Amino acid sequence: MTFDTSKLLSPRANAADEGAIIRMSQKTRDLRAKGHDVVALTIGEPDFDTPENIRTAAKEAMDKGFTHYAPTAGMADLREAVAEKLRVENKLNYEAANIVLANGAKQAVNNAVLSLIGPGDEAIMMAPYWVSYEGSVKFAGGKAVIVESTVAENYKPPIARIAAAITPATKLIFLNSPSNPTGAVWSRAELEALAAEVRKHPNLMVLSDEIYEYILFEGEMVSFGSLPGMLDRTITLNGFSKGFAMTGWRLGYAAAPLPVAVAMARMQSIISAGANQFVQKAAVAALKGPRDEVERMRKIYQQRRDMVLSGLRAIPGVKIGPIPGTFYAFPDVSAFLGKRVGNHVIDTSDQLCDWLLEQHGVTTVPGSAFGAPSSIRLSFAASEADIEKALARLKKGLGELA
Ligand SMILES: Cc1ncc(COP(=O)(O)O)c(C=O)c1O
Repeated sequence: MTFDTSKLLSPRANAADEGAIIRMSQKTRDLRAKGHDVVALTIGEPDFDTPENIRTAAKEAMDKGFTHYAPTAGMADLREAVAEKLRVENKLNYEAANIVLANGAKQAVNNAVLSLIGPGDEAIMMAPYWVSYEGSVKFAGGKAVIVESTVAENYKPPIARIAAAITPATKLIFLNSPSNPTGAVWSRAELEALAAEVRKHPNLMVLSDEIYEYILFEGEMVSFGSLPGMLDRTITLNGFSKGFAMTGWRLGYAAAPLPVAVAMARMQSIISAGANQFVQKAAVAALKGPRDEVERMRKIYQQRRDMVLSGLRAIPGVKIGPIPGTFYAFPDVSAFLGKRVGNHVIDTSDQLCDWLLEQHGVTTVPGSAFGAPSSIRLSFAASEADIEKALARLKKGLGELA
């Protein structure tokens, strides 16, 4: 190459980080290509196929000609079906006009952030947080303000710590319950305490990411926007990827007060236009159809959760709290950092994850990717056989560092 195009890249392109999950996945592929036996607990993706009734609805929709551009904010019947789902299941009083379908919940996050956040604005996220929140706030030119919490707090910071981070520039608080990466679930009382704080600040909204609502093992799913006075202060985010095992279909949504919903559709019209028509038809079938498959998957995740919890608790030095929801475990591994193996020292969770992968054939994700560098994330959206193998490898590997 004679002309170096890298010098043309925009500051935004240079600042965007592809992320640790993609890096660990690539390393896993490279090692497997060299013949290594690697068990990967990397990706937050159901290992189940999409339920049959949903697949059938997509095929039928395609045959009926739903292969064209959809309205940017989504097709009328799906917006209505989502609004009804949110009213009935989540006690959120939305109309179809409040709903904006997007090409994945990830895009819905970006639509919301781009609608509210610009240079000078701050958004609070509670570490450990889902990687993309930070990326989208920075992409929008805003400042990500991190509020930390520990495994001993079950990864839910006391409200006073959140309150202390709020400034006149704070426009948004990210709330993710059940949480990726920690599996934490906020109780009604905890959410009410957060709502009481939000009420004190007239220019503050909460983005409540409820995408793991159907993967709940203990406790009650409470939607933040259902608390008194909070509907106008909330953007409710959800999607089809996790609960309905529809990751590859790329469909998610955000529900918001009308001005924000209109702005979100405008953001989307610039970036991608409306989501795929036959996918939207399939989503109507997902919402209106039977939920036995969703429940079957939830029960299997629960069994795996039990396996993972007892496996991790049996490793001396690992600190792990309860996992009331999602398919993630986020053990604190600080006891293993700073330990010497051979002639090098493992100082960070990034180095620990690399070492576990290279020396013990198990892929996890370093907590640094989630703003929590003393932990690692394991996804148990994997077969029981793989989980068992991975736990044995972790036990052996971490045992060498103890
Ligand atoms: C907390 C959280 N929110 C949103 C998403 C985005 O989901 P999707 O874009 O697949 O709909 C994910 C996916 O990993 C997630 O973990």
